[in-house]
Formats: sequence, structure tokens, C-alpha cells
Amino acid sequence: MTTTPAPVRRGLQARLAARPQGLPAPGDIEITEVAVPDPAPGEVLVRNLFLSLDPGMLLLMAEEPRVPSPRYEIGAPMHGDAVGEVLVSAHPGLAPGDLVAHRLGWREYAVAGAGEFRRVDRDAYPSPSLHLGFGLVAYVGLVEVAGLRPGDTVFVSSAAGAIGSLAGQIARLKGAGRVIGSAGSAAKVARLTGRLGFDAAFDHHDGPVLDRLREAAPDGIDVYFDNTGGEQLRAAIEVMNEHGRIALCGALHRQSTGRPDPGPGDPLPVVAKRLTLRGFTVREHLHKAAEFGAQFRGWLRDGSIVYDETVIDGLVNAPAALTDLVRGRYTGKTVVRLGG
Ligand SMILES: NC(=O)c1ccc[n+]([C@@H]2O[C@H](COP(=O)([O-])OP(=O)(O)OC[C@H]3O[C@@H](n4cnc5c(N)ncnc54)[C@H](OP(=O)(O)O)[C@@H]3O)[C@@H](O)[C@H]2O)c1
Repeated sequence: MTTTPAPVRRGLQARLAARPQGLPAPGDIEITEVAVPDPAPGEVLVRNLFLSLDPGMLLLMAEEPRVPSPRYEIGAPMHGDAVGEVLVSAHPGLAPGDLVAHRLGWREYAVAGAGEFRRVDRDAYPSPSLHLGFGLVAYVGLVEVAGLRPGDTVFVSSAAGAIGSLAGQIARLKGAGRVIGSAGSAAKVARLTGRLGFDAAFDHHDGPVLDRLREAAPDGIDVYFDNTGGEQLRAAIEVMNEHGRIALCGALHRQSTGRPDPGPGDPLPVVAKRLTLRGFTVREHLHKAAEFGAQFRGWLRDGSIVYDETVIDGLVNAPAALTDLVRGRYTGKTVVRLGG
């Protein structure tokens, strides 16, 4: 008697085909269908449900990313945060049906040692995609890095984006006196002062940022949550109050143009006002995840926070979506729904 071999499982995977000059062009990221191996002893096979798109991925395509994450290698599968479901397990610590978070995104199926995957609570959020949210970045940037105090005036740049939209709301929930946001269109500005409850907002394309910021913050700024660098950082330094604190979270100005950023500019106001500028990465603050998660789930449950998300369908659409993300096409956290 002959037995029919089980069909080979196949899935899409993204590889870096060429290092982009500036933003990636079509073809710099290649999507191919590959055979998915069965897990060896100690490994698990995961079907990915959602991939997180992060502007930081653009930096990892460069020869020298200058960030503490491994760069993408030409011809190798790309990595990135993902959430998926265990299909087959050859490790006693994980079982089929478990929901896991991990770094093996940019592929429909991930096969790796069980230690690469972290089981997460299936019932924590209305969608598994919320496990990819950047709320912890916003929280530690405000609370740990900037030392937010009740009554502070807080300015957030890229405030309609993944981190910014939560930073503004968390600042308010943690007692900020006034919350100001900047974003790149009139529709986004309206969303900030409407749905997201910011006190004031402006379009960073709308004339000199320094003028817009002075209008929005007549009594100065105590905390600046900086997602962008560039002109917004230089303007914020001018408007900061004495002993103001700046949490340097991202470099979207540089990430969106691919060009170096001249940086904070004149040191005199930093010295004269005794400002603190402190860069951070969330990976050094993961011990705050449980503390943040409990509060975040409470805020979601009682409706005191709005979670904004843009969902793109299919890995084939992810490369263009990454470029569209930094061009300002989306709001909130952008994720790619994988598979069917
Ligand atoms: N420190 C950490 O641990 C950590 C962790 C994760 C991410 N990050 C970084 O934090 C930053 C924010 O991440 P995110 O995921 O929340 O991104 P995001 O804000 O959702 O990013 C997209 C937005 O960038 C804005 N943008 C693009 N070019 C700009 C420019 N020249 N000037 C000002 N804004 C520009 C656009 O908004 P507008 O339409 O409003 O211009 C666009 O919607 C990124 O730099 C990211 O790499 C840091």
C-alpha cells in the first residue's frame, strides 16, 4: 500500500533585496513564497496573525542602522514584531492554539525554538493586534524618562501616530495640565482636539513650528515627548520652561527623509533653562510592562483611552504600507493582517 505524503505547507516571506537610497522603492523588499518546515524537537510552528509596522524598520535597511537592533541582511527574511497562533508544537511549554508575541514578523509562518516566542493572554484585548501596540513606549517616555508631574504642560509631536496618540492621552490620564499635539494635516489636527482630547494642536507644515508652538503653549512647555527631532525639537527647546524635560523617543524627520538631522541646535537655551534631553529605548524599561498593561486594560475597559489603529491586509501590501506610514497616510498604530 502506498501512502500519499502530506502536502508541504507554504507561506509568504519578505526579504530585503537591496538597501534603499532614502525610502524603499518597489523591489527593494521582495515577497516570495517559501516552503515552511515542520518544527524540529524544541521548536514551534506559528501562523502569524498581525505584523507591526514601525518607522524604525527603515533604519534597519541601512548599511549602518545606528540603533540597538540588528540590521536587515540582503536576501535574509526581515524581522519585526508580530503576534500569531501556535499551530504545531514540539516543545512542552507551548501548545497549539496558544497566542504568542515574537520578533519573527514579515512572514506568514514562523518556525523557531520555543524561546523565541512569548505566550500572551488571548483575552487581554478585543483584537490580538493590540499586543503590538506602542503604549508602553509612550508610558515609560512620560513617566520614567520625562518624570511627568501633575499640572505639567506636555507637547507631543507626531501626535496622531502610534506612540503620539497614546502619549497625549496617557499624559492627560496621569495629570498633565495642558496637552498639545502636532500632526501633518488638518484632518489629523481635528482628530487630536476631537476624538483624542488634546487641548490644542497644530499642523507642523503650517508656517514656522516655533510660531505655532508659542501660540499653543503661551505659558511654555514642561515636558516634550519628541517623536520627530528636526524643526520641532529645536522649536520645543525655545519654548521649554526652566527645568523642562524632553524625552527623545524617535527621529521621524530623519526616518522620513533618509537625510541626517542637524539636531537640537543652539545649546544656550538648554544650558540657560537647565533642560534635560534624554534619549531612551523601551527595551530598557520592559520591567514596567505589567504595571503599564494593567492600567492600559483598565483605561480601555472604562473608555478613558481611545486606541487608534490602521489595518493593512496582506503581506504583499506591507512594503508600500511602510513607506505610506512615514509619508503620513495613516493614523494610530499601523499593523498588517497576515494570512486569511
Ligand atoms: N524609543 C523607542 O523605544 C521606540 C520604540 C518604537 C518606536 N520608536 C520610534 O518612535 C517614533 C514614532 O513611532 P510611531 O510608530 O509612533 O510612528 P508614527 O508616529 O505612527 O509614524 C508615522 C508618522 O510620522 C510622521 N512624520 C513623517 N515624517 C515627518 C516629519 N518630517 N516631521 C514630522 N512628522 C513626520 C507622520 O505624521 P504626520 O502626518 O503627523 O506628519 C506619520 O503619520 C519613530 O521614530 C519610531 O521609530 C521608538
